[in-house]
Amino acid sequence: MYINDILRKMGFSSTTYSEVIITLTKGGEKYSMPIGVKYLRKRFEGRIYRKTRIADIILSQPEKISVCVTRDPIIFYRAVLEKEKLEYIEVSHYEAPCIVGCDACIICNIESISETNEWLRIVLNPVHTVIYNVYPRPFHRVEYGIVEALVYYTKLPYVDRATAEKYYNYILVFRETVYRSTTDKKYRAIIDKIVAKAKEVLNKR
Ligand SMILES: Cc1cc2nc3c(=O)[nH]c(=O)nc-3n(C[C@H](O)[C@H](O)[C@H](O)COP(=O)(O)O)c2cc1C
Repeated sequence: MYINDILRKMGFSSTTYSEVIITLTKGGEKYSMPIGVKYLRKRFEGRIYRKTRIADIILSQPEKISVCVTRDPIIFYRAVLEKEKLEYIEVSHYEAPCIVGCDACIICNIESISETNEWLRIVLNPVHTVIYNVYPRPFHRVEYGIVEALVYYTKLPYVDRATAEKYYNYILVFRETVYRSTTDKKYRAIIDKIVAKAKEVLNKR
């Protein structure tokens, strides 16, 4: 099957953002960050906020870049708040980094980068796909709740005080979603940590 067909079967599309984790190597170090991508003209397109660390690394020509596909909220949480806890494997032949535990890894080349004051727009050309998990996964609200809370948490430093308070209140609603949808202590602990970290960011402003 052509890579284009595989990616479409995975759910990548030109109309809907797919939330993935971009992973790259530069000078022997590995970096990861969640990002939303659209799949247009057989390429991934995404926008990276210039204030993130990955924006600088992308501009300094990373050696390898891959897109990790997962629904695991713990991997998303680590990719934002505990990056040092992410573990990596290398995809053989390509020596590209892939996060341990993700469902698939798509090795890419950077096709182009364009810059504005605030954003980098990157276009990635997918060259190879490795699928680790072939089992269909049911939709879990806990995944939605944690990932959505992380999205608003990462926006907090860049918005005005009133918007930051609004986002903090959203995070409290996502905490409700998580608590209602699981009794698993590890998920509940994670959403509580996001709430606590969000409160810290809010108090510092
Ligand atoms: C699901 C999800 C999607 C995200 N999508 C983007 C995105 O498309 N572009 C972006 O710049 N930041 C996005 N973020 C926020 C970054 O991941 C976050 O700012 C980053 O982890 C910061 O990394 P740093 O601490 O290395 O600078 C997203 C976060 C989450 C949780």
